[in-house]
Amino acid sequence: MPPPEKTFYCIFLGPPGSGKGTQAKKIIDIHHVFHLSTGDLLREMAATGTELGKKVKGIMDKGELVSNDVMFAILEKKLLSPECKHGVIFDGFPRNIAQAQELDKMMTKLQKKLSCVIEFKVPDENLIGRITGRLIHEPSGRTYHIKNNPPKVPMKDDVTGEPLIQRPDDNVKVLEERLKVYHSQTKPLIEFYSNPAHKGLLKVVIASKPLDQVFKDVEDILKSLP
Ligand code: AP5
Repeated sequence: MPPPEKTFYCIFLGPPGSGKGTQAKKIIDIHHVFHLSTGDLLREMAATGTELGKKVKGIMDKGELVSNDVMFAILEKKLLSPECKHGVIFDGFPRNIAQAQELDKMMTKLQKKLSCVIEFKVPDENLIGRITGRLIHEPSGRTYHIKNNPPKVPMKDDVTGEPLIQRPDDNVKVLEERLKVYHSQTKPLIEFYSNPAHKGLLKVVIASKPLDQVFKDVEDILKSLP
């Protein structure tokens, strides 16, 4: 594959169901940067069935955060891999201040710079319907929605025809915990990325708009990067 026209390292920051994964999948079709979803990496780890995998699954099923140590180990290995050398969309990382500080250190070590942090802004009340209606094609991570973005054939992936599933943590009870964690631990990152050390990085998209409009707004931000 030829090198991409544009290299960027961009964080997608927002509550569960705000559209980070959906938009990241569309963006990588155009820009060929790597979609680094820590949720997907952890789900792969959980599926291995090892002791660590079982522990990770238990934490995710409750909607809590996996420990920073586990996250740093996974992330460093991934960031050093060749697939990340032309740029990355960080989806679901960082999730707290300690992770953001560690990411700053890793980027310095790699002699790379963050290009932008895009906040996906959506009121909490919009998220229940999105999360409980979400369908996933597990092998690729492609997402659909029963009403807003249905597959062409019910419960089948458009590309492979394979079955779609619902994530075990996509229910109202676990969503409440995920939102609590988002507001207490992840939302403070908005202030972190507004401080002088990260001047100009934070951008906002109104992610309650229709999917195509959000995509256009994200693309406009990425196009404006140097
Ligand atoms: P993760 O997999 O990252 O989940 P999340 O952050 O809760 O985010 P989601 O994947 O639920 O939402 P999304 O914003 O990607 O929404 P999507 O685009 O699919 O994390 C899962 C768990 O892993 C965590 O709870 C934690 O335990 C652990 N974890 C992960 N990272 C960690 C870290 N760094 N540290 C510690 N633990 C970590 O959209 C949702 C639905 O809405 C879809 O059906 C879509 O079709 C629909 N939709 C999207 N946009 C629109 C729109 N504009 N209009 C209408 N519908 C829309």
